[in-house]
Amino acid sequence: RAFTVAIDGPAASGKSSTARAVAHELGFGYIDSGSIYRCATLLALRQGISDAAEDRAGLAALVGQADIDVRIRPGPRPAGPGQIVVPDVQVLLDGEDVSRAIRSPEVNRLVAAVASDGPVRDAVLRIQRSLAAAAESLSTARHPAHGGVVMDGRDIGTAVFPNAELKIYLDASAMARAIRRWDQMSSQGNGPAGSADAGNAQEQPPAAHSSVEDIARELEKRDYTDINRKHSPLRIAPDAVVIDNTNMTFERQVHAIADLARE
Ligand code: C5P
Repeated sequence: RAFTVAIDGPAASGKSSTARAVAHELGFGYIDSGSIYRCATLLALRQGISDAAEDRAGLAALVGQADIDVRIRPGPRPAGPGQIVVPDVQVLLDGEDVSRAIRSPEVNRLVAAVASDGPVRDAVLRIQRSLAAAAESLSTARHPAHGGVVMDGRDIGTAVFPNAELKIYLDASAMARAIRRWDQMSSQGNGPAGSADAGNAQEQPPAAHSSVEDIARELEKRDYTDINRKHSPLRIAPDAVVIDNTNMTFERQVHAIADLARE
């Protein structure tokens, strides 16, 4: 069986860029599970559903019928030997490239509410497992067994892959996370791989002149919804390795996780 690395944690804890870099280091496939919930949210918005509770059954069915694909793109070349590569991710919804659309302020606002819906989570779970199976078969690594997959999200180690070989819980102080997200948003996606999500994986700010405090408030609101929802809330799996990266460089964190996978 393939080796599964589950990376969970609150919003803007660096899960996505870390998970992509770790997948690249190990030659594993990568799935950004938040992007699947974001596609579900985009579908809801396009149906005129502004409050997820209005039409739960309908939305879950819609998600179940949708064709959602998360692809890793050959990322930028490393700037030098030993440099960490953070590949780009492309998200396709029924063949349409929605990589940017799923990071809009409207989606940011609604996604945690959509993700708290049980039937929507069941539909997303099926997509997560089938994408992971496909990503495993594409992984180029022969290590440690038959290749593997890295998936990041909120409930990967607790609900999606409770038997994952390696579980990481990434955390950072709320202020550190807000400042990082603010840096990412103001760097227009071209910031250094270590500090920013590359390219299209960027979230857009809640308003044109948002402050760090606005962003912190939005992150905390989303975390609150994720921690307090009924269905697979954000929790630290008992067997997860907790990494607080408030004062850690990106490189150190990526190497630490890749080394744990190689052990
Ligand atoms: O990771 P990202 O910030 O893109 O995730 C967006 C939202 O999707 C989260 O705030 C959460 O509500 C939901 N999510 C989830 N379970 C996951 C991944 C994301 O509930 N495994």
